[in-house]
Amino acid sequence: MDRLQQAIEKAREQRAAALRGNPTAGPLAEDGTRPQPAAAPEELPRGGPWAELTPVDLSARQLRNNRLMASKAGTTAVPFDLLRTRMLHQARQNNWRNIGIVSPTAECGKTTAAANLAFAFSRQPEVRMVLMDFDLRRPRLAAMMGQKVEHSMQDVLLGQVSFAEHARRLGDNVCIGFNRGAAESPSELLQSTRTEKKLDEITEQFAPDLMLFDLPPMMSTDDNFGFLGRVDAALLIVAAEHSTTEHIDVALRQLGELTTVMGIVLNKCRHVGGAYGYDSKYYNS
Ligand SMILES: Nc1ncnc2c1ncn2[C@@H]1O[C@H](COP(=O)(O)OP(=O)(O)OP(=O)(O)O)[C@@H](O)[C@H]1O
Ligand SMILES: [Mg+2]
Repeated sequence: MDRLQQAIEKAREQRAAALRGNPTAGPLAEDGTRPQPAAAPEELPRGGPWAELTPVDLSARQLRNNRLMASKAGTTAVPFDLLRTRMLHQARQNNWRNIGIVSPTAECGKTTAAANLAFAFSRQPEVRMVLMDFDLRRPRLAAMMGQKVEHSMQDVLLGQVSFAEHARRLGDNVCIGFNRGAAESPSELLQSTRTEKKLDEITEQFAPDLMLFDLPPMMSTDDNFGFLGRVDAALLIVAAEHSTTEHIDVALRQLGELTTVMGIVLNKCRHVGGAYGYDSKYYNS
């Protein structure tokens, strides 16, 4: 078995051990028994590659101006804390690790949701989450979170810079792969075996419970089509008063051919009252 195969096997074993969920989920062992999930540790071990990451440096103004409502625990963070918990529960039940965040058309709020989820996950320290800006045409996560990064995701995927050097840490348990600029051939890069190998390496090194990918809109490019086959599930973000039923229908059909749709977030709702105090609403598909 070559080194890469060993790495993949190891990542798979780590994944099975790390995803502590429904004991009826996950593959059967060769002898027909089902491996029991590991008990949730109280705290992740300190040190290792996580401790070496540069921490993000956040400005309160930036958080306010970019709708990063979940940056502090409290009423405004509730929708994203709830979304985090539902996603985690589903991921554990189904043994999922890689989740794509998509929308039918542009500007439905994917990047805003991804950044808010990063904050929500940073409040759950026993879960390790890696968030990747995989919009290789119009990356916005770094600008949204006010981070100046030297390299693009293309540099990371092509091995010109190490992910550990490039990525930033939010809290102790969230790692963010920002993206400085557009890639030269986004579609080809996303579906290349090089990218797949790099992601396997990152998975082996950081052993995340979840890996979220902020992706471009479905209907603007073919970038997602080669990549979505690699994720375990997709979260579809749609925007009230913008996404039509036809948009949603087409996106669901396209996604259905590529991966599992874990849920739909109805974003930008102006008329949601009640306890959440924030104009978005979540429901499962
Ligand atoms: N719940 C919301 N209510 C109102 N505006 C929002 C909401 N969520 C996001 N926005 C705004 O919508 C715009 C687009 O948001 P964002 O960049 O997150 O979308 P996107 O789906 O990632 O876009 P793209 O398809 O270009 O990557 C931003 O100006 C953002 O502040
Ligand atoms: Mg975006």
